[in-house]
Amino acid sequence: MDAELQQRYFQQTGSQWVLSESIRKMVKFRTGNICADTLSASALEIGDLDLVICRNVFLYFHADAIGNVINKMLEILTTDGYVLTGHGELPAQTLGDLQATIFPDSVIYQRPQTMCAISHGGSL
Ligand SMILES: C[S@@+](CC[C@H](N)C(=O)[O-])C[C@H]1O[C@@H](n2cnc3c(N)ncnc32)[C@H](O)[C@@H]1O
Repeated sequence: MDAELQQRYFQQTGSQWVLSESIRKMVKFRTGNICADTLSASALEIGDLDLVICRNVFLYFHADAIGNVINKMLEILTTDGYVLTGHGELPAQTLGDLQATIFPDSVIYQRPQTMCAISHGGSL
């Protein structure tokens, strides 16, 4: 890590670096089912996210379920917010408004500035 960032956001405790309290107190942990739960307006109250990291989860879902979860992610992302998945999890899937940017080693997905209407399948 960049030394300036390390100094700004971490405190050294013995041989370990601990993330500063000001950052840690912004973290909220929630448990939920991304297929069954509404992410934006339920008890989960997730929204305005700059980044969703969802690795090795879509692998277990069928195409319809992936489409529904992508729509939910689009709802909770900020404009230009990113989704990161594991390698090869979303190619060949219907991405809705989520836009893929392809790099030599990976793919990054992003919520665009403007979106078409989000259609929900089933209960969100
Ligand atoms: C193979 S693990 C990947 C864990 C971690 N993301 C990683 O890459 O190491 C799959 C994870 O997906 C979670 N998962 C599967 N279906 C889910 C669902 N419908 N809602 C929320 N989490 C789910 C499981 O609980 C499990 O933690």
